Amino acid sequence: MYTHLQLRDSQRQPVTLSTLARMKEEGRKIASLTCYDASFAVLLDAADIDVVLVGDSLGMVIQGRDTTVPVTMDHMVYHCSIVSRGLHRPFLIGDLPFMSYPSKERALENSVRLMQEGGAQMVKLESGAGQLEIVEFLAGHDIAVCAHLGLRPQSVHKTGGFRVQGRQEEGAARMITEAKRLESAGADIVLLECIPAELGKAICAELAVPVIGIGAGPDTDGQILVLYDILDITTGRKPRFVRNFMAGAGDTLEAIKRYVEAVRSGAYPAPEHCF
Ligand code: KIV
Repeated sequence: MYTHLQLRDSQRQPVTLSTLARMKEEGRKIASLTCYDASFAVLLDAADIDVVLVGDSLGMVIQGRDTTVPVTMDHMVYHCSIVSRGLHRPFLIGDLPFMSYPSKERALENSVRLMQEGGAQMVKLESGAGQLEIVEFLAGHDIAVCAHLGLRPQSVHKTGGFRVQGRQEEGAARMITEAKRLESAGADIVLLECIPAELGKAICAELAVPVIGIGAGPDTDGQILVLYDILDITTGRKPRFVRNFMAGAGDTLEAIKRYVEAVRSGAYPAPEHCF
C-alpha cells in the first residue's frame, strides 16, 4: 500500500526515525530548522532539510512575546497544522508548550492533539529528571518523543534567564545522567540547547539515539536553529551560536540551502558559534 506522500514524490522518501538513526550511525549530520507556516515549510522541504520543528519559539518570533511562556496548545496545534501542509520529506516535531505536560495524562492528551490535529510525527518537551515518567508514559503509548535538555526557555523565570547551562562540573555530570535516563525512558531524540561544546560531544557519545544541538557545539549528530535567525529577520541581540545565512545569498531558498550544506559539511557551527 502506498501513502499519498510516497506517491507525491517517490524520489525523495520521507525522513523517519529510522532514517535519523541511520544518519547517526553513518556520521551524516542532521540538518534541522524551526518553521511556523506553510510557505516557509515548502521552502524548507525544497532545501532538503531533514527535520522541522514547530517550536514554541513562535511566541517570540511570531507573536512578539519576551518568552515562550504565553504560548498555548491551541497556538501550537494551529502552527503545526499549517506547517505540516507544506511538508513532504522532512520529519515534523511539534513542541509541547509551557504547562501542557504537568501530568502524564495531560501530556498524552496534548501529544495526541499535536499529532492528530497538528500532523506532528514527534512531540518535544523540555525535560529533566522530573519528566522521566512522562517520557516513559508517552513512549509506552508509541508516541515518538524528543527530550529537550540544557537551556530550557519555558523555565526562564525560575532559572533566572537565557544562560549557558552545564558550565560547572556538577551541572554537566547531572545533564549527562539525565540524558541517559531520558533515553532509557524512551526518548527517541535528545535536543541540547546552549551548553559547552565539550558537554555536547560527551552526551552525544553516550547516547544511541540522535542528538541535535542548538549552541551545543559541532559534535552533536545534527544542528537546529530558529529559521528567522538564519534569515536575519530577527532584530536585536542574537545568541552567539546564530549565523546569518542570508548574507551573500540571492534569495531565501538559497540561504536555507546554504545552511543545510554548512551543517552537512561541518562548516557550521564554527568555533565562534560555540561555548
Ligand atoms: O522552540 C524552539 O524553537 C526550540 C528551539 C530553540 C530548538 O525549542
